[in-house]
Amino acid sequence: MTPHPSDPPPDLAPATVAVQAGRPPHEPDQPLNAPLVPASVYVAGGDREYGRYANPTWEAFEQALGALEDGRCLAYASGLAAVATVLDLVADGETVVVPRHAYLGTLHQLADLERRGRVRVRRVDVADTGTVVAALDDAALLWVESPTNPALEVADLPVLAAAAHEAGARVVADNTFATPLRQRPLDLGADLVVHSATKYLSGHADLVLGAVVTRDDQTWRALDEQRRARGAVAGVLEAWLATRGIRTLALRVDRAESNARRLVELLAAHPAVDRVRYPSFGGIVAIEVAGGAFAADLVCRSTRLWVHATSLGGVESTLERRRRWAGEPETIPEGLLRLSVGVEDVDDLWRDLARALDGIPT
Ligand SMILES: Cc1ncc(COP(=O)(O)O)c(C=O)c1O
Repeated sequence: MTPHPSDPPPDLAPATVAVQAGRPPHEPDQPLNAPLVPASVYVAGGDREYGRYANPTWEAFEQALGALEDGRCLAYASGLAAVATVLDLVADGETVVVPRHAYLGTLHQLADLERRGRVRVRRVDVADTGTVVAALDDAALLWVESPTNPALEVADLPVLAAAAHEAGARVVADNTFATPLRQRPLDLGADLVVHSATKYLSGHADLVLGAVVTRDDQTWRALDEQRRARGAVAGVLEAWLATRGIRTLALRVDRAESNARRLVELLAAHPAVDRVRYPSFGGIVAIEVAGGAFAADLVCRSTRLWVHATSLGGVESTLERRRRWAGEPETIPEGLLRLSVGVEDVDDLWRDLARALDGIPT
């Protein structure tokens, strides 16, 4: 991989990289931040040519995320566009091994490909390393989401990646939940990383954006060709806002995580909570409330600070009963609430949540 001229010096801590990477060179009159460049066309004779092929504002985002994941990045219109583009690397008739509890949109894409006879799919409990390894026979792709959405299972990525490579399979990790500040899948053996930048990377619930990162130049070029040809390109404003989001990623993730840890302790002691799932890092917590769907829906309607909303990873705390979505696997309990813990004051968050939980009829 060739270093980019504006790459920060090597060996910086991730929190520094998040602030520094993808900026214009430190030269007189250069803006500190990469500018927003809306352009559908460039003067002929250079590398960019057309707005579906390249954009300097995407490039700033790609350099920032690429530096954080230590790979080469491509931005896409959404996380699911990034998922689709990676699944396109699988040839007809090949087998994909996937967590049974991955993000619903990823599972839908795979079920659709399977229905149309495009690929074979093996669904596994990604936390059960032995089962995953046993499923890798003849597989072309191992899809890892860790922690999984919304069950929060954690995969042993180094062991799985080594086993997948031995079986001749490529390894993709959806790193949306962990962020490159808590897990760098390429360092752990993955070949590709997928992100919904809609979530933590942008961090303010105001855009939809996706990304793929790889260290393999040949794969990067193939994906770049495919992006030009298919056209699922990133919006310029979205890429610019997401780059700005990355600048505060470390602050937001640290704060969400410390809030989440405190809430996990308090939730575990609440009589209306049957089970708390927390992977020991990050800002996403899942709880199973006593009383199933009815009680969980009641909690969603009763909070004042916590917003009942899908998605996650924003500065604002949100919660959602995942089984309200048709197609969410039946192994996800009806009463499971996914909490996306924000950066508000944790005592305020607890008071609001505790009041809603106290209201569950016993
Ligand atoms: C883990 C994970 N991957 C991918 C996606 C899809 O991303 P997007 O909504 O940006 O298309 C999501 C969205 O919730 C997600 O949670």
